[in-house]
Amino acid sequence: MRLYQLGKLGGPDALQLKEAEVPLPGRGEVAVRIRACALNHRDLNIISGNYTSVALKPGAIPLSDGAGEVAAVGAEVTRWKVGDRVAPIFVQRWLGGTLLPEYMPSALGGPSDGVLAEQIVLSEEGLVRIPSHMSFEQASTLPCAAVTAWHAALVKGQLQPGQTVVTLGTGGVSLFAAQLALLTGAQVIATTGSDAKIERLRGFGVSEVVNYRTTPEWDARVRELTAGRGADLVVEVGGPGSLARSIGALRYGGHVSVVGNLAGKSTLDPAVLFAKRASMCGIQVGSRDMFEAMNRALEVARLEPVIDRVFDFAEARAAYEYLASGKHFGKVVIRVP
Ligand SMILES: NC(=O)c1ccc[n+]([C@@H]2O[C@H](COP(=O)([O-])OP(=O)(O)OC[C@H]3O[C@@H](n4cnc5c(N)ncnc54)[C@H](OP(=O)(O)O)[C@@H]3O)[C@@H](O)[C@H]2O)c1
Repeated sequence: MRLYQLGKLGGPDALQLKEAEVPLPGRGEVAVRIRACALNHRDLNIISGNYTSVALKPGAIPLSDGAGEVAAVGAEVTRWKVGDRVAPIFVQRWLGGTLLPEYMPSALGGPSDGVLAEQIVLSEEGLVRIPSHMSFEQASTLPCAAVTAWHAALVKGQLQPGQTVVTLGTGGVSLFAAQLALLTGAQVIATTGSDAKIERLRGFGVSEVVNYRTTPEWDARVRELTAGRGADLVVEVGGPGSLARSIGALRYGGHVSVVGNLAGKSTLDPAVLFAKRASMCGIQVGSRDMFEAMNRALEVARLEPVIDRVFDFAEARAAYEYLASGKHFGKVVIRVP
C-alpha cells in the first residue's frame, strides 16, 4: 500500500510518498481502510517545522483527520466489525473527562502516526462512527476542525439560542463554529479578510460579515451590530494579534474560547478582560465523548461540512500548498483511492 511519511521538515517537500506493507491489527486494534483525509492549519505548521507543542515522531505519517471503513479487527475487539464507517479521534488517549498532558503524544499526524495512508491501524477505542448522511470526504473533515468548534462554541462557550457569536476568518474551525452556532439558534457575526468570501458566508446564513482588513477596528463594528451590547462569545483563531479586539467585541461577562494563533504579536492588556468581567479559556480539540455528542447533533441536523476542494492522493503536496495560499473557504480534502 501507499502512505506518506514526514521527511526533512521545511515545507511540502517534507511529504515523502512511500510503499509499505499493509498493516494488520493486533489485539484490541482495528485496521481502517482510509477513504479520505482532510488538512488543518496545524498540518502546515508540522511540515514547516513550526509545530512545537508536542514532539514529533520521526518519519510519522502526517494528517490527523480522515475517514474510512473498518477493514479488519484484531482479537478481543468488541466495538467494531468489518465494514463499519469510522473516523479517528484526534488525541487517541482522550476518551472523556479532563485532558491530561500525558495524552498529547497520542495526537495523530505528527506526535503519532496519522492517516495519510491507504490503511492504518488504531486502538479500537480511538475511533468514532461517522454520521450516516455524510460521505467519507465530508466525514474526513470532522476529527480536528469540527470537534474543536463544538468544544469552543458549545462545551466551553455554552452558546445558547438567541446569543451572538463572532467567528474569525473562513477556515475549517471558524466555518464549523458558524454552522454549529446557526444550528443552535444563535446569531453569527463572521469576519474575513477577503471581500470575495463575504457572499459565501451570507449564503449559509451568517447575518453579518465584517472584513477585518478594511475594518481593522472590527470589534467596534461588532458592538455596533449588537446595539452596543457586544457578543456573548468569540471563537478566537487569530490569537496574539487579534485577542485584544476579540475581548473588545465581547459583552460584559462574555467568553473567549482561544483556539488558534494565526495572527501577529500580542497587544493584550489583561486589565481589559477584568474590566469586562469576561472569561477566557484555551481549547484543545476535544475528547471522544465530545466527538460522539457532536456527531449525534450533525446527524439530526444533516449538517454538511463546507469542502472547498478535493485533491487526489498523489497530489498531497499541492493540497498543502493550496491550504497555505489562504484561498480556501472551509476544508481542503485528499481523496484516498
Ligand atoms: N487548539 C486546538 O486544538 C486547535 C484546533 C484546530 C485549529 N487550531 C488553530 O486554529 C487556527 C485555525 O485553524 P484552521 O485549521 O481552521 O485554519 P485554516 O483552515 O487554515 O483557516 C485559516 C483562515 O483564517 C483566516 N485568517 C488568516 N489570517 C487571519 C488573521 N490574521 N486574522 C483572522 N483570520 C485570519 C483566513 O480566512 P479569510 O481568508 O476568510 O480571512 C484563513 O483562510 C490555527 O491557528 C490552528 O492552528 C487549534
